Amino acid sequence: MGAAEGAAGGEAAAGGLGVVITGGSRGLGLAMARRFLAAGDTVLLCARDEARLQAARAELAAEGAGAEERLHTLACDVAQPAGAERLAEDAAARLGTIHRWINNAGTAGRHKRPLAELAADDIATTCATNLAGSMQLCAEAIRRMRRQPPAASPRYHLLNLGFSTLGAYLSRTSIPHRVSKLAVAELSRQLRRELREAGETGIGVHELRPGLVRTGLLLADMPERARPVVDRMAEPPERVAEALVPQVRRLSGTGRVIRHRSQLRLLLRGLAAAPAARRGG
Ligand SMILES: NC(=O)c1ccc[n+]([C@@H]2O[C@H](COP(=O)([O-])OP(=O)(O)OC[C@H]3O[C@@H](n4cnc5c(N)ncnc54)[C@H](OP(=O)(O)O)[C@@H]3O)[C@@H](O)[C@H]2O)c1
Repeated sequence: MGAAEGAAGGEAAAGGLGVVITGGSRGLGLAMARRFLAAGDTVLLCARDEARLQAARAELAAEGAGAEERLHTLACDVAQPAGAERLAEDAAARLGTIHRWINNAGTAGRHKRPLAELAADDIATTCATNLAGSMQLCAEAIRRMRRQPPAASPRYHLLNLGFSTLGAYLSRTSIPHRVSKLAVAELSRQLRRELREAGETGIGVHELRPGLVRTGLLLADMPERARPVVDRMAEPPERVAEALVPQVRRLSGTGRVIRHRSQLRLLLRGLAAAPAARRGG
């Protein structure tokens, strides 16, 4: 686990939000970080690979407009309890107030194959990152948010990236990925219930559903025959972040599902793409 990098901590920039994004060194997390920074928010990103995280940091800082002062990074593994704790400590120290906490770090595992063909460590890492990691991070985020000034309606928002039942049915990833992501959506539901029963009014819990995003997670170990269809259906992370981040910034209440594309629309795009892909057009 590396040392936190960034300007001296304190408080989110005046008028901006304090935002935690796990898994922000590439893919959707990096694209969302760029959008929050452009909106004037202060962002803490984490990922395991320190070199890649530093490259992301340099890339975002070079975009100017004060991004360097408002960007913090921490190399940590969210599948490890110590990594999640460290991230929460850093979030409080670097952001002051945590307004948005996005459990974006996730993995589809090394292989998109049937369960019986997967290695034990691949199954374990996928489940630990997606489910145990998100669960532990929710616990850490809530503990920290409860130390912030209380609010009569949700002012602090926690977002998970789980699957809907239809999304899991349509996905061609491995069972550990699909099952852990279904469980993440259930985690959000159970957490909302628990917070409501505890009389917690200041914290909202939501789902973020980005649709199909052209990232390493989606494309890794993808069968050649599926590529043309996925290429046509998936969108670049920048476009998805551009659609999602304004909705995350203006969140209110609890239990929202923030979608970029509906499953039905994706399905229709896939059906439309299939014949053209078969023709190679
Ligand atoms: N791509 C899609 O079509 C799609 C669709 C629906 C939902 N999603 C969800 O969107 C989220 C982001 O996916 P993506 O497609 O952007 O994936 P990605 O390009 O593979 O990026 C994943 C990010 O998470 C980090 N990460 C992975 N495991 C981690 C761990 N244990 N601790 C800390 N950081 C970790 C990675 O960095 P390191 O490897 O260096 O740690 C990287 O920064 C995931 O939750 C995914 O399930 C994606």
